[in-house]
Amino acid sequence: MNAHDLFAGIDLRQSGYLFTLLIASVLFLLGLRGLSHSETARRGLNLAALGMLLAVVGTLLNRRIVTYEWIVGGLVVGTVIGVPMGRWIPMTKMPERIALSHAFGGLAVALVGVAEYFNYRLQLSPFDIGAIGFEVLLGTITFTGSLMAFGKLLGILPGRPQTFPGQNAVNLTLLAVALMLLAILAARPDQLVLFNILLAVGLLLGVLMVVRIGGADMPVVICLLNSYAGLAAAATGFALNVPVLIVCGALDGGSGLILALRMSKAMNRSFRNVIFGAFGANVHRKQAEKEGGMVREGTPEDAAEILKLADSVIVVPGYGMAVAQAQHAVRDLAELLEKTGAVVRYAIHPVAGRMPGHMNVLLAEANVPYDQLYELDLINDDFPRTDVSIVVGANDVVNPAAKDTPGSPIFGMPILNVDRSKAVIVLKRSMNPGFAGVENELFVRPNTMMVFGDARKTLAQIAAAVKNEI
Ligand code: TAP
Repeated sequence: MNAHDLFAGIDLRQSGYLFTLLIASVLFLLGLRGLSHSETARRGLNLAALGMLLAVVGTLLNRRIVTYEWIVGGLVVGTVIGVPMGRWIPMTKMPERIALSHAFGGLAVALVGVAEYFNYRLQLSPFDIGAIGFEVLLGTITFTGSLMAFGKLLGILPGRPQTFPGQNAVNLTLLAVALMLLAILAARPDQLVLFNILLAVGLLLGVLMVVRIGGADMPVVICLLNSYAGLAAAATGFALNVPVLIVCGALDGGSGLILALRMSKAMNRSFRNVIFGAFGANVHRKQAEKEGGMVREGTPEDAAEILKLADSVIVVPGYGMAVAQAQHAVRDLAELLEKTGAVVRYAIHPVAGRMPGHMNVLLAEANVPYDQLYELDLINDDFPRTDVSIVVGANDVVNPAAKDTPGSPIFGMPILNVDRSKAVIVLKRSMNPGFAGVENELFVRPNTMMVFGDARKTLAQIAAAVKNEI
């Protein structure tokens, strides 16, 4: 038997397509595994990126593609929009950018479903129509839900929950209607009007589900929308019969859901409550002032005096560190303090910043050693034995109201116990509250010194003052 006979009947293009997708799926799994540890995260990301490249190349081999003009057109438009977004949107706006990317992802998935329905609805099986309906429903929810999250994060929509009487009942009814429409469409795929109603219900549900979620619960919603986008992609995989999309979407959907559950746990909130509870509606402002506390303001030189004498220091980074791009200045000061003999560690709150892992990414960029980073559970008991805690642009994650003030919107959320350390130095620009809009009593505690100003500049001034002394 010669080689020609051996390969007769085998469609090399189709086999190549399936093989590349198999390799891509394995690379996604390995990538996800790598991402679960800081040390292997970079390698994990590269493996996943390679997997995505293979998936794209593999998909281009698909026999169903009859023309490449549209693909090239899409590639050009996507590149023209994507490259400037990647290059010019600053790190601080990353959460908003991610919310926008989820919105685009949801829209793309929904549009693929719409195209499949309009082109092939009379030839598809009830299962295919069900998958397409599911894809369109999740895609539209992700689209408008992510746009709402984007608006809230950007501050162009109110961060507080927007509620109305019977909102849960309305949402549940809409969900039931959507599922009913799905079932009818599976049996009667020719019902165009019902498909259009399904589209509208999905768009409305996305808005109503996110508009009611406020302040401190946004991290959970962002993870949840991530999960919806993944499930929608998996449904697309079923509808188009593309296995890699099913694998990829299921991984994204599953990991997004696990992250959302972990975020709820980290904030000591029941998942059900986040979705249905309109948490953060009663924002208690001016609480600290009511307590009659006094702000002790110091200069960077005052802060340096305190730090020079410290044997143990814990740095608590927050969203303000990202805004100020102060991660390098933080590391420089930490290295100086280590030279004076202090042990410096970093306490990372799971929802510090505006996206999961925000602080870890920034500190890794500044080459802060991974082993100096401690999660909340591992470091919280050490604060009473710590000489100085430096709070760098963190606010909600160190607010004692979460422990002491029943009725506060953040009551019950675990916080970093910086108030228990011997001295606290807070670096921020003003007395303004953080994301949840709650006044922070830590700032008027007797062991706290506020050093006002942009965190990067203040840290550089403190470092200069410490340097002068050693
Ligand atoms: P926040 O509570 O938002 O506080 C950040 C503080 O940084 C602000 O009070 C601000 O005070 C200060 N700041 C801003 N720019 C600064 C600068 N250039 N220099 C110095 N300080 C600056 O941050 P957090 O403690 O990290 O808490 C995160 C909050 O965001 C939580 O409520 C969390 O639920 C929410 N959230 C988190 C996520 C994720 S996934 N992490 C997603 C969405 C929402 P000044 O204006 O006075 O400077």
